[in-house]
Amino acid sequence: MRSFGSVVATGIEALCDAAFDRWHRLDFGGVIEQADLATNQHPSHANAFSYEAAAGIDLRIVVSEALRVDPTFQNFLDLGSGKGKSCNYVAWSFGFKNIVGIEFSAQLIEIAEINNKKLNTKNVTYILADAARYKIAPAPTIVYMYNPFDASILENFLSNNMEHFRTHGSVIAYVNDRHRSSLTKFGFETVYRDQTRKHSIYRLPDPAGGS
Ligand SMILES: C[S@@+](CC[C@H](N)C(=O)[O-])C[C@H]1O[C@@H](n2cnc3c(N)ncnc32)[C@H](O)[C@@H]1O
Repeated sequence: MRSFGSVVATGIEALCDAAFDRWHRLDFGGVIEQADLATNQHPSHANAFSYEAAAGIDLRIVVSEALRVDPTFQNFLDLGSGKGKSCNYVAWSFGFKNIVGIEFSAQLIEIAEINNKKLNTKNVTYILADAARYKIAPAPTIVYMYNPFDASILENFLSNNMEHFRTHGSVIAYVNDRHRSSLTKFGFETVYRDQTRKHSIYRLPDPAGGS
């Protein structure tokens, strides 16, 4: 169970997010049900979860924890970027060089692009793509997910990118980590987990046995 202090802190952070979004006239809000996300013909539609923006506090905690693994990360990838809240908040709070959002709903990418313009974020790019087929660019990256899809899409993504994780030391930062057992199944180790908030960080073990 969460402590009273943690509940209050989360509430205050949520108010700060709402004030920030309102001040900049950003549209990250609402829930879009799975059925309304993309066309029914999309091969990964049935495996998607609804759109809902992450809480800024969860994002800031997992990104800070990922930076404890390697403070030099300059690339951030959001799998299922929705309206772009996490990409924009990361650009605002951490200033990575290169921020990419992958999203399979063209409508949500349109909204995300408008949000970028309002915040004048230059280093955030959205790509209309299916995470199940996406290949990560060859550079150390924080791969972030806020509960976007089921285990079958996650496992397709991992299968396509294992060589990347072996070569570049990228980490996975997972908020609302429902399918974390897929990561351990693929040999990832948990470097951080918050049992109460249900978020975690993973990487492949160093083959040389170092840390
Ligand atoms: C819970 S929302 C998270 C939004 C955003 N990452 C954030 O933190 O605010 C999950 C998003 O994943 C997208 N999604 C689901 N399955 C996908 C897939 N196979 N490929 C790309 N995007 C996907 C959905 O359309 C939705 O916008």
